[in-house]
Amino acid sequence: MEQTPGGSASTNAMRSFWDRRARENPMWFVHSTLDYAHPDSDEFWRSGEETLDRTLEPFDVQVTRRDRVLDVGCGVGRITRALAQRAESVVGLDVSKEMVSHAATNLAGLDNVEVVLGNGRDLSPIPDASVDVAYSFLVFLHVPDPAVTCNYIAEMGRVLRPGGWTLFHVSEDPAAHLPENRPDPGLADRLRAALRRRPRGTKEAQWVGAAVDRADVLDALRRGGLELEASVGDGTLYCLLYARRQ
Ligand SMILES: C[S@@+](CC[C@H](N)C(=O)[O-])C[C@H]1O[C@@H](n2cnc3c(N)ncnc32)[C@H](O)[C@@H]1O
Repeated sequence: MEQTPGGSASTNAMRSFWDRRARENPMWFVHSTLDYAHPDSDEFWRSGEETLDRTLEPFDVQVTRRDRVLDVGCGVGRITRALAQRAESVVGLDVSKEMVSHAATNLAGLDNVEVVLGNGRDLSPIPDASVDVAYSFLVFLHVPDPAVTCNYIAEMGRVLRPGGWTLFHVSEDPAAHLPENRPDPGLADRLRAALRRRPRGTKEAQWVGAAVDRADVLDALRRGGLELEASVGDGTLYCLLYARRQ
């Protein structure tokens, strides 16, 4: 496992990990059901639309032309692009310079999107009460320190306008993050990884991530002035929460 001063959830550790993944295979590390060797870009962009629909549907909410939206951990812009087609404007934020650079290129044709580099721990580039929707999917489950995830949750409350809402994904399944539950790649797989035919880094802390406790999430929501309205997938790796700013 990578050793970086400041721990695995420091800005440098998270940025360095995701920069390396973005250089290795940006589409696969954002949407890892793609074929690693031959990722299909049509399928990739279609999955952004489908993911957005699938995550909104349980809460019966929509992003509308009146909404300014924040996409936390936007990656190369897969879901950001789908949000931009529905919203007034979108700001994507990511800890990785390389991911931000890919997103800026991928979304260059859209005039209602901006992409910003974050420090991996808070939403400091985003002003207070400046967005209507704060969205995040497939990000916090990879963050190695639950305190960082909880800080982001409180921060989403800070940047939301009163009456705005957040929909975000966390893991509530600690067992899913135990190294022993990660298959140990055999020699052949390690060789393929070395030859760049298989993903690297999937045993590192910034990929393995961490689960959060619901009590800590509720505390973070409270600190952010947010009220939990609904959740699905409680206790699993794919838990979605929907909360509204008071
Ligand atoms: C699996 S990708 C998902 C990207 C995007 N949400 C999607 O579903 O298309 C995870 C993204 O989260 C970003 N990320 C990881 N840790 C982060 C952190 N602490 N703060 C902000 N972004 C982070 C990574 O750089 C990467 O772009």
